[in-house]
Amino acid sequence: MNATIAELKNRLEAALVSAFGTDLAGTDPMLVPTSNPKFGDYQANVAMSLAKRLGKAPRAIAEEISQKLEIDDICEKPSIAGPGFINLMLKPAYLQAQLAAMEGDSRLGIPLVKDPKKVVVDFSSPNIAKEMHVGHLRSTIIGDSLARILEFQGHDVLRLNHVGDWGTQFGMLITYLREVAPEALTTADALDLGDLVAFYKKAKQRFDEDPEFQERSRQEVVRLQSGAEDTLRAWRLLCEQSRREFQIIYDLLDICITERGESFYNPLLAQVVEDLERSGLLVEDQGAKCVFLEGFTNREGNPLPLIIQKSDGGYNYATTDLAAIRYRVQQDHGDRLIYITDSGQANHFAQVFQVARRAGWIPDTVEVVHVPFGLVQGEDGKKLKTRSGDTVRLRDLLDEAVERSRADLEARLKAEDRQETEDFINEVAQVVGIDAVKYADLSQNRTSNYIFSYDKMLSLQGNTAPYMLYAYVRVQGISRKGQIDFEQLGSDIKIVLQEETELALAKHLLQLDEILTEVSLDLMPNRLCQYLFELSQKFNQFYDRCPVLQAEESIKVSRLALCDLAAKTLKLGLSLLGIRILERM
Ligand code: ARG
Repeated sequence: MNATIAELKNRLEAALVSAFGTDLAGTDPMLVPTSNPKFGDYQANVAMSLAKRLGKAPRAIAEEISQKLEIDDICEKPSIAGPGFINLMLKPAYLQAQLAAMEGDSRLGIPLVKDPKKVVVDFSSPNIAKEMHVGHLRSTIIGDSLARILEFQGHDVLRLNHVGDWGTQFGMLITYLREVAPEALTTADALDLGDLVAFYKKAKQRFDEDPEFQERSRQEVVRLQSGAEDTLRAWRLLCEQSRREFQIIYDLLDICITERGESFYNPLLAQVVEDLERSGLLVEDQGAKCVFLEGFTNREGNPLPLIIQKSDGGYNYATTDLAAIRYRVQQDHGDRLIYITDSGQANHFAQVFQVARRAGWIPDTVEVVHVPFGLVQGEDGKKLKTRSGDTVRLRDLLDEAVERSRADLEARLKAEDRQETEDFINEVAQVVGIDAVKYADLSQNRTSNYIFSYDKMLSLQGNTAPYMLYAYVRVQGISRKGQIDFEQLGSDIKIVLQEETELALAKHLLQLDEILTEVSLDLMPNRLCQYLFELSQKFNQFYDRCPVLQAEESIKVSRLALCDLAAKTLKLGLSLLGIRILERM
């Protein structure tokens, strides 16, 4: 209810000035939603904070403000509670008008932001020649959802895939493949990604055990960096192969992202070192070039270095991220740089941000933020593993979600004695399976670890994707049953709110805007999930209490419109989470 809050704030400010003079112009009325809807929808707490300044009792201040408050068109007469809270209750007529305006609007009354920003969202970002793991899955799902929300608000979002496609691992891998599978370095698709991952593990093992192999690998890295044609060709083939595999996952998850891997910044790394040197930040320490960090110390309490260039001249992960920050500020003109990775990388980002800031590469107007998330655990509370103890492949994990959702669906169809086509079953199984995985992730406070449970995420009860989809489908069922075309309801519908459950639903419907604003600030998609969960509950309470198709004509139309708005709000909210809806399930 952004517009409403803004309007209420204006009115309160005006009342403050008219009660106590222009000195108080611009005073924050301290308006918040009430914790108990019985007392009202919003409460202004400003009276308490002004008591000292005005030398009056807070209650008296609250009285004076509410006497001057002109708010008839929006709220009931304000009431004063406790030491001096001013309680405001929205009028049904006001709510009705707001809802009617929503009905005819594809954005459901939610305006675009007034100051659109250029936002760079760095997410997903798997590593070439390695399998994408559940950490990348979390990053992909959370990043996509945040990008969708910011885009919907009108920001210009650049979705970047900072793929790990450069560095020593290629030296090892190419050296190893030259020995055991040279055809993989010259022909596309000679291996599949599974083999590649296995080769990578073996190459790593050789690298750790065999000094001669190590030396050859190092030379291969040098060849790669100096652009030797055969090494480059091998590198390109390996990247191409991984990329295709990643794309399968992105297609399954319906993710749009632009690849701009680490290799992209390679030509810019020398300049990073040079500029840090010039700004006096760079210190040579045992042959390596470092920046000593503020606020990071080792066990002895000495400042920790961030290595920018290793003693052998090589660059590392941090160097690349420094180049990337600069590029995103200077070339992409990013106002806000967002990085989505597991919390294990929190230090890395804090350090890189610090160095970039001290080097003067992050103007005050630019916000850089790491969005950390916790681990995905198995049902035993330990790191998610397959039964045989291997890391879980994402494709297998998603396939299993779809398979289980299919089994659930088939059982339900049987129990309900329903006949459905193969196409229907495939579609529902696919959508519900993928939605369930996404929603289970997004509905958690991202900073905590969560336990991956197919049973929980596919349950029709609780804060799950199936529950939400079901609420949506229920509304579609009403329109089918009553042969109502929601689109034909028209925008001049008169919505009447009488029952408590109607009012509660109506107020909730008008809060999406506020929730999206919150999510765009704290980057916590679980708030949107919680909002949608409560919306489904409020809809169900309304639908259980208030007859719709059986009601007399004018009430029926009004309630149908409420149903329609609930469905549209669910659909919009879920789409901003990257969750697909179904008309039937
Ligand atoms: N490739 C990294 C990993 O798999 C994530 C990259 C995150 N983005 C960044 N700009 N560092 O852990």
